[in-house]
Amino acid sequence: MPLTRAQAFEASDDLGRSPADRPTLGDVIAARFDRRDIVKGALGVAAIMALPRMAGSAAAQPATPAATAAASVASTARSRFDFAEVAAGVDETHHVAEGYDADVLIRWGDPVLPGAPPFDPAGQTAAAQRLQFGYNNDYLGYLPMPGAENPARHGLLVVNHEYTNEELMFPGLGRQDLRAVGFKGITPELTAIEMAAHGGSVLEVRRGDDGKWRVVAGSRYARRIDAETPMEITGPAAGHPRLKTAADPSGRRVLGMLNNCAGGLTPWGTWLTCEENFHGYFGGVLPEGHPEAKNHARAGVPGGWFGWARFHDRFDVGREPNEANRFGWVVEIDPFDPASTPKKRTALGRFKHEGAFPLVNRDGRVVVYSGDDERFEYVYRFVTARPFVPGDPAANRDLLDDGVLSVARYEADGTVAWLPLVHGHGPFTAENGFASQADVVIEARRAADLLGATRMDRPEDIEADPKSGKVFVMLTNNTRRKADDTDAANPRGPNPFGHIVEMTAPGGDHAADRFGWDVLVKCGDPAIAAVGASFNPATSKDGWFGMPDNCAVDHQGRLWITTDGNSGARTGRADGVWGLETEGPLRATGKLFFRCPVGAEMCGPMFTPDDETLFVAVQHPGEADESDSNAPPATFENPATRWPDFRPDMPPRPSVVAITRRGGGRIGS
Ligand code: FEO
Ligand code: CA
Ligand code: CA
Repeated sequence: MPLTRAQAFEASDDLGRSPADRPTLGDVIAARFDRRDIVKGALGVAAIMALPRMAGSAAAQPATPAATAAASVASTARSRFDFAEVAAGVDETHHVAEGYDADVLIRWGDPVLPGAPPFDPAGQTAAAQRLQFGYNNDYLGYLPMPGAENPARHGLLVVNHEYTNEELMFPGLGRQDLRAVGFKGITPELTAIEMAAHGGSVLEVRRGDDGKWRVVAGSRYARRIDAETPMEITGPAAGHPRLKTAADPSGRRVLGMLNNCAGGLTPWGTWLTCEENFHGYFGGVLPEGHPEAKNHARAGVPGGWFGWARFHDRFDVGREPNEANRFGWVVEIDPFDPASTPKKRTALGRFKHEGAFPLVNRDGRVVVYSGDDERFEYVYRFVTARPFVPGDPAANRDLLDDGVLSVARYEADGTVAWLPLVHGHGPFTAENGFASQADVVIEARRAADLLGATRMDRPEDIEADPKSGKVFVMLTNNTRRKADDTDAANPRGPNPFGHIVEMTAPGGDHAADRFGWDVLVKCGDPAIAAVGASFNPATSKDGWFGMPDNCAVDHQGRLWITTDGNSGARTGRADGVWGLETEGPLRATGKLFFRCPVGAEMCGPMFTPDDETLFVAVQHPGEADESDSNAPPATFENPATRWPDFRPDMPPRPSVVAITRRGGGRIGS
C-alpha cells in the first residue's frame, strides 16, 4: 500500500539520534538474569558464555579484544551458505549469485485462464485482467502435484496479489499520490481493473528437461481469485450480526479478499492467504455514535487508500458499516479444486495478518503462527482443538474452525507467555463488550490489549524450523518507537531497520504455554555505531540488510530472509534475499544471494521440496525511491525501471522469478 511504503520509508531522519538511551549490555544482563544471582555469582560462566547472542552488537561497537576474538573464530567457521555473494547495490535489474539462473516465470498481465488476451498496457480492461496474472505478487506457495513423477518438478504455485500501484499501471495519471487529488482520473473501469488485479492466482507449473520452469497452459487447476470472488465465512464469527450487510443478511457470504500479503500451506494441502491492510479500501464516514466506531478506529477503518467507495457502496462505511468486519481474516483455499469456495477462518482472529505459518505439533494438533503488521501490534498463535489426520481430507477440512487463539507477551527474563483469547476467561466478558467468542475474534486487537501483550515493531512473517523447534519472527521496523518506550524484545527506539526475534518451543512443543526467546539479529548497517546493528562480525559489507519482511526455512534448516524497504538513499542497497546463519559461531551472519531491481520489494521466498528451486516474487518494481527527496516521481510514463521487459512500450511488471543452479543441484549448498 502507498501508506505502508510511506511508513517504511520515513526512517532515515531517525539515524542521527543519540544511542545514549539504549540499554547497556549490563542492563540487559541484569534484566534477563536476576540481579541477586549476578551479585551472588550464581550466574555461572556457562550462562555468561551464553550471552554473545545479545553481545553480538559488537559489530557496531569499537573493536574490543572480545570482538576481535569473535571475528577470528567466525573467520574459521564454515558458512552453511555455499555461494559467491552478490554485491549489494541498486540498479535497473535483478542480480543473482554467480552460477545461478533467475528466470521470469510469469508477469503481471500474462495469461492464467483460457481466453486471456495478450497483455496490452495501453488497452487494459477488467474483463482481460480477470483472466490474467494479477498485480503485486507477494506470497508464493508450492504444492507438489499428487502422483507426479517428480513432485519437486511438477506442482501448483499459488500466488497472492496484494495490491495495485495505479500510477505505474495506468497511463495518464501522472502522479504517485492519488489520494491527495481525490482519486482524480480513476474511473469505474479503472477501479474494476484494480479489483480484478487483487486476490490470487493458482498456476500449474512444471520444470522441463532443460531445467526451466513453465506455467502449464490450459491447466484444469488454473484459477484467478479477486476482490469479487464469492467466499464463505466460517468459525466463531460466521453469521454474527456484526458481519451482516444489506447484500448478505446471512453474515456468511462475502465477495473477495483484500491486500493478501503473505500466507502459508497446510499439511493437508490447502493455501492460507492472509488479509493485511484491509482498512485501506474503505472510505466514507461512519454515522455519528455508531457502535462500530471504536472497533473501526482500532483498525484504521476507513483508511481511504483507494477510491473504491466512490463506486461501490459496500466500501463506504457510511452506507455499509459492517463490511469492514468481513475483512482482516485468514482465508483458506483448496487450490486442487478450482470450483471450491474460499473460506475466511474467523477462529484465527481479525487483524492485519502478514501471513500464517502452520505446522503439525508433536501431539498432532496444528499450530499456526501469525503476525499483525502494524507498529506496536502483536504476535499471535492458534492451536487447533483436534489433531491433523494424515490422509483424511474430511477430518481436516474444517480443522481451523475450532481452537485457541493466543497472543504473545515477551518477558524480560527470556520467556514468552502465550495468553489465550477465550470468551468467558479473564476480561472477555459481556461487561467488557465481549458477548461471545465472535466479539473476541472480530476485535482480536482490543482483546490482546486487555491481556498486556507485547507491542512489537511491526510483526511480519513468522516461520518455524520444525526440526529444531525454533520460530523466527520478522519485525520489520518501527520509526515511532521512542527511546524511553523500548522493551527487551523491542530494544531500539526508534527502530528504522527492524530486527528478528527467535522463539524456542520447549522440547519442540509448539502448543506449550511458555517459550524461550532471544534476539537473533538487530538489522541495519553495522558500520554505523548509532544504528546499533548486531550482525556477526563475519558479515561482509554486502551481507547485512534492513527491514526483514518475509522468510523461508529450507529443507536443510537454513533461514533465508527477504526484505522490504531497502533503497539507495536508505541503505545503499536494493531489497533482496539474504541467507542468515542461525547456529554456531557464524550465527547472525548474513549473505546476499539475490537482489531486486530498483523500487521493488522482495516477497514470497518458497523452496521446492528438493531445495533445487527458489521461487521469489518481485513486487512493485519501478517505484521511485521515496527515501530520496531528489528522485523524480515514478509513473507509467516514467518508471524507475522497465523491468523485466525493458521495452519502451511496457511498464514495469511485478513478476515471479524461478532461481535454479546452472547444471543442477541444491540452492546454496
Ligand atoms: Fe504486506 Fe507486511 O507486508
Ligand atoms: Ca510482507
Ligand atoms: Ca511488504
